[in-house]
Amino acid sequence: MSDVTILGADREPSPGAGLSFGIDVGGTGVKGAIVDLRTGEFVGDRHRIDTPQPATPEAVGRTVSQIVEHFGWTGPVGLTMPGVVKNGILRTAANIDDAWLGTDVRALYSERLGGRPVTVLNDADAAGLAELRFGGGAHIDEGLVILLTLGTGIGSAMLYNGTLIPNTEFGHIEVRGTIAEKRASAKVRKDNDWSFEKWAAKLSEVLTKYERLFSPDLFIAGGGISRKSDKWIPHLTNEVPVVPARLRNTAGIVGAAMAVAEEL
Ligand code: BGC
Repeated sequence: MSDVTILGADREPSPGAGLSFGIDVGGTGVKGAIVDLRTGEFVGDRHRIDTPQPATPEAVGRTVSQIVEHFGWTGPVGLTMPGVVKNGILRTAANIDDAWLGTDVRALYSERLGGRPVTVLNDADAAGLAELRFGGGAHIDEGLVILLTLGTGIGSAMLYNGTLIPNTEFGHIEVRGTIAEKRASAKVRKDNDWSFEKWAAKLSEVLTKYERLFSPDLFIAGGGISRKSDKWIPHLTNEVPVVPARLRNTAGIVGAAMAVAEEL
């Protein structure tokens, strides 16, 4: 493993060295990495395992411990979930197995990981924390910024003067009778084989709705599709500027690692 080599073969990577560990639990993949909190970069490679099907809490718990074992990491672990997380309990499960609803995810993962401390937070919130710290640019810590992760669903992180307001779930706001993420997630574009232009029109409706409700100063677009932002941002017709996230597929892992190390 390259990460162990970097740190010296005789010792395991540890939190004391400014390092932390994050895992992003998604509907298709569970991904983890050691994160250097001084730079927001991974130490060595990310490790990904397909989300087990059915994605029950027990099965995913086993996958999470495999990822941690892969790195030989013994310290606290931060994890993201694609739903509302309040006091360690998962309150919504739009894009994962219903068996998760009401699960004490913090207790489950901690038990799977030998009783060590874990922090669990919403995936888009984790991305928001990471972008705030390591994304830089575009006045991200001034006024009201809405970061959206455009993927299977639409995740949201609301950042007000540099502070995260968690669990906003803007992807579930109705826009002309349909929730936003069923109207304009990246998955909806793919499933319907829409051009970027057509999809941008749908996304513009969603962003305009958010503008009416929250009067943000800036939108940040994250998720894999933000890599191709030059293909669709120019077609948006909403008023507030939209910029692509700087951190792309690392944001969830980095935010999770920050959250557990800094008790965010
Ligand atoms: C969930 C959010 C999540 C988003 C992205 C939505 O369906 O409700 O909690 O952040 O998907 O995974």
